[in-house]
Amino acid sequence: MQNNISLEQGDINQSQLRQDYNAQLTEETKQWIEKDAKYFLHQALSTPVMNVLSKTEGPFIYDLQGKAYLDLHGNGVHNAGFSNPVVTQKVIEQLTRSLAFTPRRYTNIPAVQLAEKLIAVTPKELTRVLFCPGGSEAIEMAIMLAKQVTGKWKTISFWDSYHGTGFQAASLGGEEHFTVGQGPMVPGAFHVEFPNYYRNPWGLTDTTAIDEEYLRQIKIILQRNPDMAAILGEPISATPVVPSRYYWEEVQSLCRRYGMLLIFDEIIEGFGRTGKLFASEHFVTPDVLVLGKTLGGGLMPFAGIVTREEFNVLQNRSIGHFTHEKNPLCCTAGLATLEYLLDNKLVENAATLGDYLMDQLRALQDIYPIIGNVAGKGFHIGLDLVKDRKTKERAVKEAEIIMYHCMREGVAFKIIEGNVITMRPSLVITKDHCDMIIHALRNALEKVSLS
Ligand SMILES: Cc1ncc(COP(=O)(O)O)c(C=O)c1O
Repeated sequence: MQNNISLEQGDINQSQLRQDYNAQLTEETKQWIEKDAKYFLHQALSTPVMNVLSKTEGPFIYDLQGKAYLDLHGNGVHNAGFSNPVVTQKVIEQLTRSLAFTPRRYTNIPAVQLAEKLIAVTPKELTRVLFCPGGSEAIEMAIMLAKQVTGKWKTISFWDSYHGTGFQAASLGGEEHFTVGQGPMVPGAFHVEFPNYYRNPWGLTDTTAIDEEYLRQIKIILQRNPDMAAILGEPISATPVVPSRYYWEEVQSLCRRYGMLLIFDEIIEGFGRTGKLFASEHFVTPDVLVLGKTLGGGLMPFAGIVTREEFNVLQNRSIGHFTHEKNPLCCTAGLATLEYLLDNKLVENAATLGDYLMDQLRALQDIYPIIGNVAGKGFHIGLDLVKDRKTKERAVKEAEIIMYHCMREGVAFKIIEGNVITMRPSLVITKDHCDMIIHALRNALEKVSLS
Protein backbone atom coordinates (compact mmCIF):
# COMPACT_ATOMS: atom_id res chain seq x y z
CA MET A 1 0.00 0.00 0.00
CA GLN A 2 2.64 2.50 1.08
CA ASN A 3 4.56 2.17 -2.16
CA ASN A 4 1.46 3.15 -4.11
CA ILE A 5 0.79 6.24 -2.05
CA SER A 6 -0.87 8.94 -4.11
CA LEU A 7 1.00 12.11 -4.94
CA GLU A 8 -2.20 13.88 -6.03
CA GLN A 9 -3.03 15.34 -2.64
CA GLY A 10 0.38 16.25 -1.39
CA ASP A 11 3.99 15.51 -0.75
CA ILE A 12 4.59 12.08 0.69
CA ASN A 13 5.37 11.86 4.37
CA GLN A 14 7.73 8.92 4.43
CA SER A 15 10.48 10.00 2.07
CA GLN A 16 14.12 10.27 3.08
CA LEU A 17 13.92 14.06 2.89
CA ARG A 18 10.96 14.05 5.28
CA GLN A 19 12.96 11.89 7.67
CA ASP A 20 15.94 14.26 7.38
CA TYR A 21 13.66 17.20 8.14
CA ASN A 22 12.15 15.41 11.15
CA ALA A 23 15.61 14.42 12.40
CA GLN A 24 16.66 18.05 12.93
CA LEU A 25 13.65 18.85 15.11
CA THR A 26 14.09 19.00 18.89
CA GLU A 27 13.61 15.99 21.16
CA GLU A 28 10.48 17.51 22.64
CA THR A 29 8.93 17.96 19.20
CA LYS A 30 9.89 14.43 18.18
CA GLN A 31 8.15 13.06 21.27
CA TRP A 32 4.89 14.82 20.42
CA ILE A 33 5.13 13.60 16.82
CA GLU A 34 5.63 10.05 18.05
CA LYS A 35 2.68 10.32 20.44
CA ASP A 36 0.52 11.73 17.66
CA ALA A 37 1.41 8.74 15.49
CA LYS A 38 0.74 6.39 18.41
CA TYR A 39 -2.76 7.63 19.29
CA PHE A 40 -4.27 8.70 15.98
CA LEU A 41 -5.56 6.12 13.58
CA HIS A 42 -2.97 6.08 10.86
CA GLN A 43 -3.93 7.69 7.55
CA ALA A 44 -1.56 7.88 4.63
CA LEU A 45 -1.67 11.63 4.23
CA SER A 46 -1.97 12.74 7.85
CA THR A 47 0.38 10.57 9.88
CA PRO A 48 3.22 10.91 10.71
CA VAL A 49 2.98 14.67 10.88
CA MET A 50 5.62 17.13 9.76
CA ASN A 51 5.97 19.22 12.88
CA VAL A 52 4.06 20.35 15.97
CA LEU A 53 2.48 23.79 16.02
CA SER A 54 2.23 26.08 19.01
CA LYS A 55 0.54 29.05 17.34
CA THR A 56 -1.07 30.11 14.07
CA GLU A 57 -1.34 33.85 13.60
CA GLY A 58 -1.86 36.10 10.58
CA PRO A 59 -0.16 34.48 7.58
CA PHE A 60 2.21 32.45 9.80
CA ILE A 61 2.29 29.12 11.60
CA TYR A 62 4.76 28.63 14.49
CA ASP A 63 6.34 25.42 15.73
CA LEU A 64 7.09 24.56 19.37
CA GLN A 65 10.42 26.39 19.23
CA GLY A 66 8.66 29.51 17.99
CA LYS A 67 10.07 29.20 14.47
CA ALA A 68 7.72 31.01 12.10
CA TYR A 69 6.71 29.66 8.71
CA LEU A 70 4.88 31.77 6.15
CA ASP A 71 2.15 29.26 5.38
CA LEU A 72 1.24 29.03 1.70
CA HIS A 73 -1.27 26.27 2.29
CA GLY A 74 -3.29 26.87 5.45
CA ASN A 75 -5.79 24.26 4.30
CA GLY A 76 -7.65 27.19 2.78
CA VAL A 77 -9.06 28.50 6.06
CA HIS A 78 -6.66 31.42 6.45
CA ASN A 79 -7.82 33.98 3.88
CA ALA A 80 -8.38 36.60 6.62
CA GLY A 81 -5.31 35.39 8.53
CA PHE A 82 -5.08 32.79 11.27
CA SER A 83 -6.49 33.75 14.68
CA ASN A 84 -7.75 37.00 13.20
CA PRO A 85 -8.20 39.26 16.28
CA VAL A 86 -11.35 40.98 14.97
CA VAL A 87 -13.04 37.68 14.14
CA THR A 88 -11.89 36.14 17.41
CA GLN A 89 -13.28 39.07 19.42
CA LYS A 90 -16.67 38.81 17.70
CA VAL A 91 -16.82 35.07 18.44
CA ILE A 92 -15.87 35.66 22.10
CA GLU A 93 -18.62 38.29 22.36
CA GLN A 94 -21.10 35.83 20.90
CA LEU A 95 -19.98 33.19 23.40
CA THR A 96 -20.43 35.55 26.32
CA ARG A 97 -23.97 36.28 25.16
CA SER A 98 -24.70 32.64 26.08
CA LEU A 99 -25.93 31.86 22.62
CA ALA A 100 -23.50 29.26 21.33
CA PHE A 101 -26.11 26.95 19.85
CA THR A 102 -29.67 27.07 18.58
CA PRO A 103 -31.73 23.88 18.44
CA ARG A 104 -33.52 22.98 15.21
CA ARG A 105 -36.78 24.82 14.54
CA TYR A 106 -35.23 28.06 15.89
CA THR A 107 -33.04 30.60 14.24
CA ASN A 108 -30.68 33.30 15.58
CA ILE A 109 -29.61 36.73 14.43
CA PRO A 110 -26.00 35.86 13.35
CA ALA A 111 -27.34 33.03 11.13
CA VAL A 112 -29.82 35.30 9.37
CA GLN A 113 -27.23 38.08 9.08
CA LEU A 114 -24.66 35.76 7.51
CA ALA A 115 -27.25 34.41 5.05
CA GLU A 116 -28.28 37.95 4.13
CA LYS A 117 -24.67 39.10 3.70
CA LEU A 118 -23.70 36.12 1.55
CA ILE A 119 -26.68 36.69 -0.70
CA ALA A 120 -25.67 40.34 -1.01
CA VAL A 121 -22.05 39.62 -2.02
CA THR A 122 -22.46 36.55 -4.24
CA PRO A 123 -23.60 37.01 -7.88
CA LYS A 124 -27.09 38.56 -7.94
CA GLU A 125 -28.78 35.42 -9.31
CA LEU A 126 -27.91 33.51 -6.11
CA THR A 127 -30.50 34.20 -3.42
CA ARG A 128 -30.85 31.12 -1.18
CA VAL A 129 -28.37 29.59 1.25
CA LEU A 130 -27.99 26.50 3.39
CA PHE A 131 -25.17 25.90 5.87
CA CYS A 132 -23.51 22.76 7.25
CA PRO A 133 -20.40 21.88 9.31
CA GLY A 134 -17.93 21.00 6.55
CA GLY A 135 -17.12 21.17 2.86
CA SER A 136 -17.73 17.49 2.14
CA GLU A 137 -21.26 17.88 3.47
CA ALA A 138 -21.79 21.04 1.45
CA ILE A 139 -20.86 19.07 -1.68
CA GLU A 140 -23.33 16.42 -0.57
CA MET A 141 -26.07 19.05 -0.25
CA ALA A 142 -25.27 20.54 -3.67
CA ILE A 143 -25.54 17.16 -5.39
CA MET A 144 -28.68 16.22 -3.48
CA LEU A 145 -30.24 19.52 -4.47
CA ALA A 146 -29.35 18.93 -8.12
CA LYS A 147 -30.99 15.50 -7.98
CA GLN A 148 -34.14 16.89 -6.35
CA VAL A 149 -34.39 19.80 -8.77
CA THR A 150 -33.78 17.85 -11.99
CA GLY A 151 -35.34 14.52 -11.05
CA LYS A 152 -32.16 12.98 -12.51
CA TRP A 153 -29.26 11.33 -10.72
CA LYS A 154 -26.02 11.04 -12.71
CA THR A 155 -23.14 13.48 -12.45
CA ILE A 156 -20.05 14.59 -14.33
CA SER A 157 -16.99 15.81 -12.45
CA PHE A 158 -13.25 15.89 -13.01
CA TRP A 159 -10.43 13.41 -12.62
CA ASP A 160 -7.78 14.38 -10.08
CA SER A 161 -10.15 16.75 -8.29
CA TYR A 162 -10.84 16.64 -4.55
CA HIS A 163 -14.30 17.44 -3.22
CA GLY A 164 -14.00 15.87 0.22
CA THR A 165 -14.55 12.56 1.92
CA GLY A 166 -17.81 10.70 2.38
CA PHE A 167 -19.35 8.61 -0.35
CA GLN A 168 -20.89 11.32 -2.50
CA ALA A 169 -17.93 13.71 -2.36
CA ALA A 170 -15.35 10.94 -2.81
CA SER A 171 -17.33 9.41 -5.68
CA LEU A 172 -17.33 12.71 -7.50
CA GLY A 173 -13.74 13.47 -6.58
CA GLY A 174 -11.31 12.06 -9.07
CA GLU A 175 -8.71 10.47 -6.81
CA GLU A 176 -8.54 6.74 -6.27
CA HIS A 177 -6.80 7.37 -2.96
CA PHE A 178 -10.20 7.95 -1.34
CA THR A 179 -12.22 5.24 -3.08
CA VAL A 180 -10.14 2.08 -3.48
CA GLY A 181 -11.18 -0.59 -1.01
CA GLN A 182 -14.57 1.04 -0.32
CA GLY A 183 -16.64 -1.26 -2.50
CA PRO A 184 -19.33 0.29 -4.69
CA MET A 185 -19.24 4.07 -4.67
CA VAL A 186 -22.20 6.30 -5.58
CA PRO A 187 -23.30 5.11 -9.03
CA GLY A 188 -23.58 7.32 -12.10
CA ALA A 189 -20.54 9.46 -11.25
CA PHE A 190 -18.79 10.07 -14.59
CA HIS A 191 -15.43 11.80 -14.84
CA VAL A 192 -13.70 13.84 -17.51
CA GLU A 193 -10.35 15.58 -17.67
CA PHE A 194 -10.04 19.16 -16.44
CA PRO A 195 -8.64 21.43 -19.17
CA ASN A 196 -4.88 21.56 -19.09
CA TYR A 197 -3.24 23.88 -21.58
CA TYR A 198 0.35 23.16 -20.53
CA ARG A 199 0.00 19.39 -20.35
CA ASN A 200 -2.77 18.69 -22.86
CA PRO A 201 -2.34 15.17 -24.28
CA TRP A 202 -2.81 16.25 -27.91
CA GLY A 203 0.19 18.56 -27.98
CA LEU A 204 -2.10 21.39 -29.13
CA THR A 205 -1.21 25.02 -28.52
CA ASP A 206 -4.39 26.80 -29.55
CA THR A 207 -6.52 27.37 -26.43
CA THR A 208 -9.87 27.04 -28.18
CA ALA A 209 -8.80 23.85 -29.94
CA ILE A 210 -7.74 22.45 -26.56
CA ASP A 211 -11.06 23.52 -25.00
CA GLU A 212 -12.98 21.78 -27.78
CA GLU A 213 -11.19 18.49 -27.06
CA TYR A 214 -12.00 18.70 -23.34
CA LEU A 215 -15.61 19.73 -24.08
CA ARG A 216 -15.89 16.76 -26.44
CA GLN A 217 -15.31 14.43 -23.46
CA ILE A 218 -18.36 15.93 -21.74
CA LYS A 219 -20.48 15.84 -24.89
CA ILE A 220 -19.74 12.15 -25.48
CA ILE A 221 -21.06 11.29 -22.02
CA LEU A 222 -24.09 13.54 -22.35
CA GLN A 223 -25.13 12.01 -25.66
CA ARG A 224 -25.34 8.60 -24.00
CA ASN A 225 -26.71 9.54 -20.56
CA PRO A 226 -30.02 11.37 -20.45
CA ASP A 227 -30.15 11.12 -16.63
CA MET A 228 -27.49 13.72 -15.91
CA ALA A 229 -28.30 15.95 -12.91
CA ALA A 230 -25.18 18.09 -12.59
CA ILE A 231 -21.65 18.97 -13.56
CA LEU A 232 -19.44 19.70 -10.57
CA GLY A 233 -16.01 21.31 -10.70
CA GLU A 234 -13.73 23.86 -9.17
CA PRO A 235 -13.72 26.94 -11.43
CA ILE A 236 -9.90 26.74 -11.43
CA SER A 237 -8.20 23.40 -10.77
CA ALA A 238 -6.19 22.85 -7.58
CA THR A 239 -2.91 22.70 -9.50
CA PRO A 240 -4.01 25.43 -10.63
CA VAL A 241 -5.04 25.42 -14.29
CA VAL A 242 -7.13 28.46 -15.17
CA PRO A 243 -9.63 27.46 -17.86
CA SER A 244 -10.72 29.94 -20.49
CA ARG A 245 -14.01 31.75 -19.94
CA TYR A 246 -15.12 30.10 -23.19
CA TYR A 247 -14.72 26.65 -21.62
CA TRP A 248 -17.04 27.40 -18.68
CA GLU A 249 -19.50 29.28 -20.91
CA GLU A 250 -19.74 26.21 -23.10
CA VAL A 251 -20.15 23.91 -20.08
CA GLN A 252 -22.90 26.19 -18.80
CA SER A 253 -24.70 26.11 -22.12
CA LEU A 254 -24.46 22.30 -22.14
CA CYS A 255 -26.02 22.36 -18.65
CA ARG A 256 -28.90 24.48 -19.97
CA ARG A 257 -29.36 22.31 -23.06
CA TYR A 258 -29.39 19.02 -21.11
CA GLY A 259 -31.30 20.29 -18.06
CA MET A 260 -28.46 19.92 -15.55
CA LEU A 261 -27.14 22.15 -12.79
CA LEU A 262 -23.67 23.66 -12.89
CA ILE A 263 -22.08 23.40 -9.43
CA PHE A 264 -18.88 25.27 -8.60
CA ASP A 265 -16.85 24.02 -5.64
CA GLU A 266 -15.29 27.22 -4.29
CA ILE A 267 -14.39 25.74 -0.93
CA ILE A 268 -10.78 26.77 -1.61
CA GLU A 269 -11.29 29.42 -4.27
CA GLY A 270 -14.01 31.51 -2.67
CA PHE A 271 -13.58 34.55 -0.43
CA GLY A 272 -11.02 36.40 -2.50
CA ARG A 273 -8.42 33.72 -3.12
CA THR A 274 -8.34 34.30 -6.90
CA GLY A 275 -8.45 38.10 -6.78
CA LYS A 276 -12.26 38.27 -7.08
CA LEU A 277 -14.52 37.65 -4.11
CA PHE A 278 -15.65 34.44 -5.84
CA ALA A 279 -13.72 32.63 -8.56
CA SER A 280 -16.93 32.19 -10.57
CA GLU A 281 -16.78 35.93 -11.26
CA HIS A 282 -13.92 35.22 -13.69
CA PHE A 283 -16.20 32.89 -15.65
CA VAL A 284 -19.96 32.32 -15.25
CA THR A 285 -22.48 32.27 -12.40
CA PRO A 286 -23.12 28.65 -11.39
CA ASP A 287 -26.47 27.23 -10.32
CA VAL A 288 -24.98 26.22 -6.98
CA LEU A 289 -21.94 27.82 -5.36
CA VAL A 290 -20.31 25.67 -2.67
CA LEU A 291 -18.36 27.48 0.05
CA GLY A 292 -16.38 26.31 3.08
CA LYS A 293 -13.05 26.63 4.90
CA THR A 294 -12.61 30.44 5.18
CA LEU A 295 -16.39 30.65 5.82
CA GLY A 296 -15.55 29.57 9.37
CA GLY A 297 -12.76 32.13 9.63
CA GLY A 298 -10.25 29.43 10.57
CA LEU A 299 -11.90 29.40 14.00
CA MET A 300 -14.93 27.23 13.31
CA PRO A 301 -15.68 24.43 10.88
CA PHE A 302 -18.38 25.80 8.56
CA ALA A 303 -19.53 25.48 4.96
CA GLY A 304 -22.59 25.93 2.82
CA ILE A 305 -24.25 26.39 -0.54
CA VAL A 306 -25.73 29.44 -2.25
CA THR A 307 -28.20 28.83 -5.06
CA ARG A 308 -30.86 30.36 -7.30
CA GLU A 309 -34.40 31.27 -6.27
CA GLU A 310 -35.92 28.85 -8.78
CA PHE A 311 -34.26 25.93 -6.95
CA ASN A 312 -36.06 26.70 -3.70
CA VAL A 313 -38.26 23.66 -4.34
CA LEU A 314 -37.72 21.34 -1.37
CA GLN A 315 -41.20 21.54 0.06
CA ASN A 316 -41.36 17.98 1.42
CA ARG A 317 -37.70 16.94 1.57
CA SER A 318 -34.49 17.96 3.37
CA ILE A 319 -30.95 17.78 2.04
CA GLY A 320 -29.03 19.22 5.00
CA HIS A 321 -30.61 18.78 8.39
CA PHE A 322 -27.30 19.20 10.22
CA THR A 323 -27.20 19.80 13.98
CA HIS A 324 -24.95 22.83 13.47
CA GLU A 325 -26.57 24.23 10.31
CA LYS A 326 -27.34 27.56 12.04
CA ASN A 327 -24.67 27.47 14.75
CA PRO A 328 -24.40 31.08 16.04
CA LEU A 329 -20.65 30.84 16.73
CA CYS A 330 -19.93 29.55 13.22
CA CYS A 331 -22.21 32.17 11.69
CA THR A 332 -20.61 34.94 13.74
CA ALA A 333 -17.17 33.79 12.59
CA GLY A 334 -18.38 33.68 8.97
CA LEU A 335 -19.93 37.12 9.04
CA ALA A 336 -16.93 38.70 10.80
CA THR A 337 -14.51 37.06 8.36
CA LEU A 338 -16.43 38.21 5.32
CA GLU A 339 -16.66 41.75 6.68
CA TYR A 340 -12.95 41.74 7.53
CA LEU A 341 -12.03 40.64 3.99
CA LEU A 342 -14.17 43.41 2.50
CA ASP A 343 -13.30 46.19 4.98
CA ASN A 344 -9.57 45.58 4.57
CA LYS A 345 -9.70 45.20 0.78
CA LEU A 346 -8.01 41.82 0.98
CA VAL A 347 -9.57 40.68 -2.29
CA GLU A 348 -7.90 43.59 -4.05
CA ASN A 349 -4.67 42.72 -2.21
CA ALA A 350 -4.84 39.19 -3.60
CA ALA A 351 -5.37 40.54 -7.12
CA THR A 352 -2.56 43.11 -6.98
CA LEU A 353 0.05 41.18 -5.03
CA GLY A 354 -0.93 37.98 -6.82
CA ASP A 355 0.08 39.67 -10.09
CA TYR A 356 3.30 40.86 -8.46
CA LEU A 357 4.13 37.38 -7.18
CA MET A 358 3.38 35.83 -10.57
CA ASP A 359 5.66 38.40 -12.28
CA GLN A 360 8.46 37.57 -9.86
CA LEU A 361 7.94 33.85 -10.42
CA ARG A 362 8.02 34.34 -14.19
CA ALA A 363 11.30 36.21 -13.77
CA LEU A 364 12.64 33.13 -11.94
CA GLN A 365 11.29 30.98 -14.77
CA ASP A 366 13.47 32.98 -17.20
CA ILE A 367 16.52 32.00 -15.16
CA TYR A 368 15.75 28.44 -14.03
CA PRO A 369 14.70 25.94 -16.73
CA ILE A 370 13.29 23.63 -14.06
CA ILE A 371 10.25 25.95 -13.85
CA GLY A 372 8.24 24.62 -16.76
CA ASN A 373 5.10 26.61 -16.15
CA VAL A 374 3.75 29.33 -13.86
CA ALA A 375 -0.04 29.40 -13.61
CA GLY A 376 -2.78 30.80 -11.45
CA LYS A 377 -4.93 33.76 -10.50
CA GLY A 378 -4.59 36.04 -7.47
CA PHE A 379 -3.12 34.11 -4.57
CA HIS A 380 -3.80 30.72 -6.16
CA ILE A 381 -0.53 29.94 -7.90
CA GLY A 382 1.29 26.84 -9.08
CA LEU A 383 4.78 26.15 -10.39
CA ASP A 384 5.06 23.06 -12.57
CA LEU A 385 8.62 21.82 -12.18
CA VAL A 386 10.08 19.77 -15.03
CA LYS A 387 13.29 17.89 -15.67
CA ASP A 388 13.18 18.96 -19.29
CA ARG A 389 11.04 21.72 -20.82
CA LYS A 390 10.53 19.71 -24.03
CA THR A 391 9.45 16.38 -22.50
CA LYS A 392 7.85 18.07 -19.45
CA GLU A 393 8.95 15.11 -17.35
CA ARG A 394 7.87 15.91 -13.80
CA ALA A 395 10.74 16.97 -11.48
CA VAL A 396 9.42 15.12 -8.44
CA LYS A 397 12.63 14.72 -6.46
CA GLU A 398 13.68 18.30 -7.12
CA ALA A 399 10.29 19.61 -5.99
CA GLU A 400 10.72 17.87 -2.68
CA ILE A 401 14.26 19.25 -2.21
CA ILE A 402 12.94 22.75 -2.92
CA MET A 403 10.07 22.29 -0.47
CA TYR A 404 12.30 21.27 2.42
CA HIS A 405 14.83 23.98 1.64
CA CYS A 406 12.07 26.60 1.78
CA MET A 407 10.77 25.09 5.02
CA ARG A 408 14.16 25.73 6.56
CA GLU A 409 13.95 29.34 5.36
CA GLY A 410 10.52 29.70 6.95
CA VAL A 411 8.31 29.34 3.88
CA ALA A 412 5.92 26.36 3.90
CA PHE A 413 3.92 25.09 0.94
CA LYS A 414 2.43 21.92 -0.44
CA ILE A 415 3.33 19.96 -3.54
CA ILE A 416 0.54 18.49 -5.65
CA GLU A 417 0.89 15.80 -8.35
CA GLY A 418 4.44 15.20 -7.19
CA ASN A 419 6.00 18.20 -8.91
CA VAL A 420 3.67 21.21 -8.70
CA ILE A 421 4.55 23.72 -5.98
CA THR A 422 1.29 25.31 -4.90
CA MET A 423 1.15 28.74 -3.28
CA ARG A 424 -1.99 29.82 -1.52
CA PRO A 425 -0.93 32.35 1.13
CA SER A 426 -3.26 34.22 3.44
CA LEU A 427 -4.73 37.28 1.77
CA VAL A 428 -3.27 39.47 4.53
CA ILE A 429 0.30 39.14 3.22
CA THR A 430 2.32 42.15 2.10
CA LYS A 431 4.85 42.77 -0.66
CA ASP A 432 7.62 41.96 1.85
CA HIS A 433 6.10 38.53 2.38
CA CYS A 434 6.01 38.01 -1.40
CA ASP A 435 9.68 38.95 -1.55
CA MET A 436 10.38 36.49 1.27
CA ILE A 437 8.78 33.71 -0.82
CA ILE A 438 10.83 34.64 -3.88
CA HIS A 439 14.02 34.86 -1.85
CA ALA A 440 13.57 31.39 -0.33
CA LEU A 441 12.58 29.92 -3.66
CA ARG A 442 15.54 31.44 -5.49
CA ASN A 443 17.95 29.97 -2.95
CA ALA A 444 16.28 26.59 -3.28
CA LEU A 445 16.35 26.72 -7.07
CA GLU A 446 20.03 27.59 -6.92
CA LYS A 447 20.54 24.55 -4.74
CA VAL A 448 18.83 22.12 -7.13
CA SER A 449 20.57 23.68 -10.13
CA LEU A 450 23.94 22.92 -8.52
CA SER A 451 23.12 19.38 -7.40
C1 LIG B 1 -11.96 21.87 -3.18
C2 LIG B 1 -12.39 21.18 -1.94
N1 LIG B 1 -13.64 20.70 -1.86
C3 LIG B 1 -14.08 20.07 -0.74
C4 LIG B 1 -13.26 19.90 0.36
C5 LIG B 1 -13.78 19.19 1.60
O1 LIG B 1 -13.95 20.10 2.63
P1 LIG B 1 -13.93 19.60 4.17
O2 LIG B 1 -12.56 19.10 4.45
O3 LIG B 1 -14.32 20.81 4.95
O4 LIG B 1 -14.97 18.51 4.27
C6 LIG B 1 -11.95 20.37 0.32
C7 LIG B 1 -11.03 20.18 1.47
O5 LIG B 1 -9.84 20.20 1.37
C8 LIG B 1 -11.51 21.03 -0.86
O6 LIG B 1 -10.26 21.50 -0.94
